Amino acid sequence: MQEFSGRTAVITGGASGIGLGMARSFAKRGMQLVLADLDEELLRAAEQEFLDAGVTVVSQICDASKLEDIERLAEATMDRFGSVHVVCSNAGVGIPTSALNFKLSDWEWIINVDLWGPIYAVKTFLPLIEAQGEGHINATSSMAGLISSQMMGAYNVAKHGVVALMAATERELRAKKSNVRASVLCPGPINTNISRHSVDYRPGRGKPKNDTEKAGKLAGNIQSALEQGMHPDEVGELVARAIKEEKFWILTHPRWAKGVQKQLDAMVNEQTLTRA
Ligand SMILES: NC(=O)c1ccc[n+]([C@@H]2O[C@H](COP(=O)([O-])OP(=O)(O)OC[C@H]3O[C@@H](n4cnc5c(N)ncnc54)[C@H](O)[C@@H]3O)[C@@H](O)[C@H]2O)c1
Repeated sequence: MQEFSGRTAVITGGASGIGLGMARSFAKRGMQLVLADLDEELLRAAEQEFLDAGVTVVSQICDASKLEDIERLAEATMDRFGSVHVVCSNAGVGIPTSALNFKLSDWEWIINVDLWGPIYAVKTFLPLIEAQGEGHINATSSMAGLISSQMMGAYNVAKHGVVALMAATERELRAKKSNVRASVLCPGPINTNISRHSVDYRPGRGKPKNDTEKAGKLAGNIQSALEQGMHPDEVGELVARAIKEEKFWILTHPRWAKGVQKQLDAMVNEQTLTRA
């Protein structure tokens, strides 16, 4: 998509972290914003930041894991702006979950937000973008969507699903020679509040009990990697550039893809699974 100025971008999970970074990069390019999030306080603060900067912005409380909320978001966007050119299905949660010893309620929650959220966004928004003949739909996956590490069972499953969803969508769009593009964002560690927000939103709240010392250590390692991670505004810039250049894969830490290559080599050559 070449033209950003005066067009509308919808971002779920837009009140914090990577979503807010995307909103800032789009606003810098003259776009109007629709911010959707579950957290009212964060949403108001984000909206105020953009109003103060003279950006046209609306915000809406929305649970990205509910189809009716996504449909209401689309209706509000069309009522207010009459069109939508960029949609980023980014709202997400993540908490260590063992693939051996898990609570179904954790798996359902993570898969509902992280995978059904993007499915509902594609289902609801893609026809609206296509009706305009041009635009872009993006969803946030993770490096966990490319390689499955231990103790992130549900997150891995959801994020692999997001990669598959967006790849299938992009291939179908290209096959029918559409000018609408799809892409997937696969971040490595980014310095956001995802851990705290996820603990707050988790059904029953609180951290899952890590049943082994190893699992607890892993959760601690993830947290410190996030704290030393990339600034979310940098991710927002990468996304805006990728949309302009019609890239499909948006990797914040491309060198991490070496692990994916190793896994592929081991699959083809030895039919074994690498350690991750
Ligand atoms: N931070 C990282 O290192 C990292 C790495 C890979 C992928 N991601 C992905 O990036 C995306 C954004 O996460 P972030 O790191 O910016 O975290 P964040 O917590 O700072 O931002 C996520 C936002 O989503 C909102 N949210 C959570 N559940 C929601 C729901 N059901 N409906 C609507 N909004 C909801 C939260 O309130 C929050 O504002 C997520 O999909 C996450 O899985 C993050």
